[in-house]
Amino acid sequence: MEKKDIDWGNLGFGYIKTDKRYVATYKDGKWDEGALIDDDKIVMSECACVLQYAQTIFEGIKAYTTEDGRIVTFRPDMNAERLINSAERMKMPPISKEQFIDSIKQVVKANAAYVPPYGTGASLYIRPFMFGINEVIGVKPATEFQYRAFTTPVGPYFKGGAKPLTIRVSDFDRAAPKGTGHIKAGLNYAMSLYAIVDAHENGFDENMYLDPQTRTKVEETGGANFLFITKDGKVVTPKSDSILPSVTRRSLMYVAEHYLGLEVEEREVYVSELKDFAECGLCGTAAVISPVGKIYNHGEEICLPSGMDEMGPVTKKLYDTLTGIQMGRIEAPEGWICEIC
Ligand code: PLP
Ligand code: COI
Repeated sequence: MEKKDIDWGNLGFGYIKTDKRYVATYKDGKWDEGALIDDDKIVMSECACVLQYAQTIFEGIKAYTTEDGRIVTFRPDMNAERLINSAERMKMPPISKEQFIDSIKQVVKANAAYVPPYGTGASLYIRPFMFGINEVIGVKPATEFQYRAFTTPVGPYFKGGAKPLTIRVSDFDRAAPKGTGHIKAGLNYAMSLYAIVDAHENGFDENMYLDPQTRTKVEETGGANFLFITKDGKVVTPKSDSILPSVTRRSLMYVAEHYLGLEVEEREVYVSELKDFAECGLCGTAAVISPVGKIYNHGEEICLPSGMDEMGPVTKKLYDTLTGIQMGRIEAPEGWICEIC
């Protein structure tokens, strides 16, 4: 298979249309078997539930070329479980884990020419999503749905790649107590758009959201979970019911403990502790681990000792081990790597 003529090394995190996408339809109480199609456009009623009441959920996964030339994805079973949880919370009919994983395998294989070659630093981002498509005007869930998965080749989520970011403590909340922060619903991102534009206009790369109830504890950013490294080398991540359970963060915590022999802790993290950490990183499928160098908290500037030039040493070890597992350089725990072709 011949690769597409793409400048892989200079890709940002943007959308490039690829050849095939997977689509399945839910109607009359059941999902059909799904198929690959060419058409990237969706036709729907002006009154579709997704347009009026934002009944939509999504996932994010990457496919990689390994050192020995295979195409693989990382823990799609975890994304399947999260999509099922998101669907249940949004009153949508979940697709089965098997159909989800099959859709990922089919859509990656069909777009293999767009999977960046090994060593380019780029990957094929897969965006599975589901939405209510029939007409709904009174506030209620749709009865007909579409599930789709498309792909796009991507580079780093943040422009500077591994360059440390400057973030700010946000005055806006991302999730309400007992709301939808723990699922991957489009509405969580819609309401973060104002805050991210405002952060960018004020010279910050991202927002640090706090717990909506007390505004004293760290939650996450608009698209990634936090990892902190203490001065004595412990890996700490915030525990909260209103953050998205990141597959990357859960994998990194495992890697920290079982591959690097580090102490790990999932616990409440207070804003007042931020000044005591040695390193900070944002972790997610898109972000991988993006180091944070500075955090602004209403006039207070917290400079992480790891600085603004490069990743801190523990963050770097975590990054190297995780990406080593994903690219086949380091043996993966059982079931983490899903081979496509
Ligand atoms: N938190 C939010 C709000 C996200 O959108 C994402 C992205 O998926 C993450 C965290 C990271 O999750 P994952 O590692 O599963 O991609
Ligand atoms: C991902 O990391 O896959 C996400 O969905 C985050 C999004 C902000 C791009």
